[in-house]
This record gives sequence, C-alpha cells and structure tokens, in this order.
Amino acid sequence: MLSTDKIISGKEVAANIKQQVKRDVEKLNRQGIYPKLSVIMVGEDPASMAYVKGKHKDCAECGIISENITFPDSITQRELLREIERLNADSTVHGILVQLPLPKQIDEYAVINAISPSKDVDGFTAVNVGNLNIGKDCFVPCTPQGCIDMLDRAGVDLMGKDVVVIGRSNIVGKPVATLVLKRSATVTICHSRTQNIADKTRNADIVIVAVGKAGFLTGDMLKPGAVVIDVGINRGRDGKLCGDADFASCIDVVSKITPVPGGVGLMTRANLLKNTVKSAQNIGK
Ligand code: GUN
Repeated sequence: MLSTDKIISGKEVAANIKQQVKRDVEKLNRQGIYPKLSVIMVGEDPASMAYVKGKHKDCAECGIISENITFPDSITQRELLREIERLNADSTVHGILVQLPLPKQIDEYAVINAISPSKDVDGFTAVNVGNLNIGKDCFVPCTPQGCIDMLDRAGVDLMGKDVVVIGRSNIVGKPVATLVLKRSATVTICHSRTQNIADKTRNADIVIVAVGKAGFLTGDMLKPGAVVIDVGINRGRDGKLCGDADFASCIDVVSKITPVPGGVGLMTRANLLKNTVKSAQNIGK
C-alpha cells in the first residue's frame, strides 16, 4: 500500500461537517434563532490564544456568532463564576466555553461545573460526563468524538476490536475510552504508571495516543496493520507541529494513521461547531 493511502485526512471530513453546520445555521436563522458561542479566555497563553482564534474563525465561516471574553491572569474565581452566571442567564448565548488551562488560583472543577449543562458545548461538566457514561443524550467532548469521526472515515469497524488508549485525561483519554466501549470494542487505558506500555500496544488493533509527548509512540510498539489515531499537538525540535506518534517509524507498520496537522485537530474544531448548533436546536425541546 502506498504510504499516502494509509493517511486518514481530516480535511474532507471537517469540510463536510462545516457544510452541514452552515445549512443547520441557515435553517435556525430562518426560525429567528442565531446560534452564538461565548469563549472565555483567561491569561495570554500563546497556544490557548491560537486555539481560540481558530474557533472564532470557524464560527465566522459557518455563520455562528462568537464572542471572545478575555480576563487577566489575576482574575478571581468569584469574578469568573459571576461571568459564567451572566452567560448562563443570557438567552442569546447557546454555547459557553472556558479555555483551559486556568491559572493556579482557580478551581477548574468549580468553574467548569458552573456552566449550565445545556450550554456546555465542550461536554466537560459532571452532568454531561455522567450522561456520556450511562449512554444518555449529552454534549460529547469534541476531541474524543473527533477520534471516532476519523475511525469512521477510515471505515474501521470497532466492534470486538482491541483498542489501547494511551493517556487518561478527563478531556481525551477517559471519554474516548467510553466512546470506543460504546462501539463494542475492548479497551485498555494506559498511562504514566502503566508497566511496559509496548506490551499492550503490540496486541492492539487500534492505538489512540493522547499524552502530549512528541514521538512517544514508535513503530516497534505496534502490531503490523494497526490503526493509529494521534491526538497530540506538539512542537518538534525543528519548530514544526507534530503528534504523539513518531510518524516516520509508524507509517511502515500501520494500515492507517492520522496526520498532525490535518488530522484529529480539525475534527475537534468541527465538533465544537456541531455542538453549538445542537445547543441552539435544543431550545424549546
Ligand atoms: N484546552 C485544550 N483543549 C481544550 C478543549 O477542548 N476545550 C477547552 N475548553 N480548553 C481546552
């Protein structure tokens, strides 16, 4: 197989999702509903600022109104909670996103869970996490859903497959494990205390890696023909964006792999738009 045929490109899928979002927004507009996303950004972390800029650009492309609410690093938790309360009560706002990480003085759990679950387009509140786990309708977190979108794109059937997830974060590792379980895969979660991760990954049909370490997953850790979903967005020593998988050594071993950039990251962005529209569609339900 040509190595290019092994690459699961996110570009086309993201474009398709955006087209659908655009049509849904137009339909809502005809009903007098104008989907709006409010993004709260605390501090000036360059990576977070770049992500947030991308989110606003995507919204503009799809006709979603978006606003950026910025606060200095010195903001108190009380002030932040007051702003969230205001947005919860504002019926013109359908999605609220607090960009993470937050400064040390702020309790992330308290802030996230102050967001009304019906506006929690990140799917990070305890209510949405709980509903995801028991299989009820909820806002599914954007990056984990993006991993599933990429597997669907590649035509990978998860039923009965052995999936190894590397990383146990609340944002990616845990929810993606829940989603693959929902598709009837057998899932193993590896993390920083797992002994001999390679023993686990060598038995996996699919490896989803989300550890935030450039080149962590190498080709010798994989079973021939495995599928790799790379969630990492890192800066390599050459300054270029790269994933958690060492692409050069994985490409010869895998049957499919997602690239960085141009992979899961595009799905994350597209799913945020989808969730914002879903929230607007839920009005009156
Ligand atoms: N920081 C890194 N990824 C995310 C994300 O998906 N949502 C939010 N709110 N913050 C993040």
